[in-house]
Amino acid sequence: MTSPPPKPVITLIGCGKMGGAMLRGWLKSGIAERIFVIEPSGLPDEFKNNSQVTLTATLPSCDAFVLAVKPQMMNDICAALHPAPGALALSIAAGPKIANFEKLFGAQYPIIRAMPNTPAAIAQGITVAVANAHVAPGQKALADSLLRAIGMVEWIEDESLMDAVTALSGSGPAYVFHLIEAMTKAGEAAGLPAGFAMTLARQTVIGSAALAASEPGTPAATLRQNVTSPGGTTAAALSVLMDGDAMTELFKRAIAKATARSRELSQ
Ligand SMILES: NC(=O)c1ccc[n+]([C@@H]2O[C@H](COP(=O)([O-])OP(=O)(O)OC[C@H]3O[C@@H](n4cnc5c(N)ncnc54)[C@H](OP(=O)(O)O)[C@@H]3O)[C@@H](O)[C@H]2O)c1
Repeated sequence: MTSPPPKPVITLIGCGKMGGAMLRGWLKSGIAERIFVIEPSGLPDEFKNNSQVTLTATLPSCDAFVLAVKPQMMNDICAALHPAPGALALSIAAGPKIANFEKLFGAQYPIIRAMPNTPAAIAQGITVAVANAHVAPGQKALADSLLRAIGMVEWIEDESLMDAVTALSGSGPAYVFHLIEAMTKAGEAAGLPAGFAMTLARQTVIGSAALAASEPGTPAATLRQNVTSPGGTTAAALSVLMDGDAMTELFKRAIAKATARSRELSQ
């Protein structure tokens, strides 16, 4: 019988909201042999007594290091790391491009850039990732499993799509929260008490998302049609929302603006 391959040693740089969510996921799935954490504020309480997790000030020898610090601090932090050749660099920062990390670590260095979103905090995120040409298949598989700890993962080949990805799934949770706000205000305008309208709007979004999740193969348009009787109340509302593709056009404008902003920020 062959023994299983050794588990990797991972270093997490920045144990804030997103880094903490990843670390929680890694510990839960038992993915790593050992996890080092570089974090000036120290380890968050929930990880303090975990024998697999070690706080460190400098980058130790490891299979991969995950950069989960604010984009504006990234270059200074990376410049001080001096990673050993061969350790995979995985950045989850919004903005810095692969070329930025190649400048810092070397043109041949294996680098993956990933864009998660906030539901990652409860392991329900979606992360889009792109690798440079120096990432070995085993390193890509490792990154995939590290990212799967916070939700779904999609890989792309073309890094230039990252601005649109940031605009759609990266910023997307805020659009859904705004939908709850908008539905709440509309319910109030239709005569419902404010708190009651909010409960109805919020649970409608939560329940509809769970229903969509329970039918992954059913297109959104079919889910919509399934709850729309001809001549009924839903059809009446949709005749406003879909008139001239009003909502789609609004989203196209919003996402185009966010895409352009992402492009500006990653210059
Ligand atoms: N949150 C999201 O929804 C989201 C979505 C997509 C992408 N991201 C990306 O994820 C990254 C982290 O975001 P976040 O929301 O998790 O931010 P955060 O909560 O502020 O976490 C960043 C962490 O890095 C720590 N840090 C500061 N200086 C450091 C250093 N020299 N070495 C190591 N760690 C250091 C910070 O410590 P202090 O608090 O002590 O400064 C903080 O704990 C960002 O690049 C962001 O673009 C976040």
